[in-house]
Amino acid sequence: MPNDQEKEAAARASLRFVRDGDIVGLGSGSTAACAIRLLGDKVKAGLRIRGIATSVRSQELAASLGIPIITFDECQQLDVAIDGADEIDPQLCLIKGGGGALLREKVVASAARQFVVIADSSKQVSLLGKFPLPVEVIPFAQILVARRITALGAAVNLRKSPQGNPYTTDEGHHILDCTFGQIPDPAALARVLSDMPGVVEHGLFIGMANVVLIGKGDKVLELSPTTKT
Ligand code: A5P
Repeated sequence: MPNDQEKEAAARASLRFVRDGDIVGLGSGSTAACAIRLLGDKVKAGLRIRGIATSVRSQELAASLGIPIITFDECQQLDVAIDGADEIDPQLCLIKGGGGALLREKVVASAARQFVVIADSSKQVSLLGKFPLPVEVIPFAQILVARRITALGAAVNLRKSPQGNPYTTDEGHHILDCTFGQIPDPAALARVLSDMPGVVEHGLFIGMANVVLIGKGDKVLELSPTTKT
């Protein structure tokens, strides 16, 4: 089954975690966009939710569908955040940030009572690291940080825009895409990266997912920290 159908199926399955009146974290990327479109349909049919978006792009999409958008000024906690992932390991550790929105994605997920991850089956891996790990850095420090991450054994590339300039995140930072090949201890690497001055955030999401919904063929697998594969 093509990935698009698996993404759509996972996105559709996430709707049952959203209740009337909820504040919903709206993820970024193609799978999250499916969920936003489906939520838009529900809002048109009468569901009352408010969204906090993880990117300007998702905010624009949600607003165009009539989903009211709020900020942290208006809420302390989200009921649920729904977002995609680039890799998901058997412990439900994630690599995120392929779309460049990892910083806001992690902030939003951290503020949600439930973090629901949606993905197609290509995202399930036995070990994280084949997908380049996005590391968001302040431009001033990017060369220094790139050298330090290279010394950890990764191939490091500054993400570029299609025009060839450094890609700039919604918060005005740059992204280093760091290919480790395999990350045997994601939690340890997360600590090392978080401790590196100049790093704003990295795309390792450890112990954050409460539910992972994976479209696989014509089924949707539901994984949670107690049902890890
Ligand atoms: C965006 O920054 C990412 O974290 C996305 O959630 C991730 O890249 C998955 O994107 P797709 O749903 O497009 O595969």
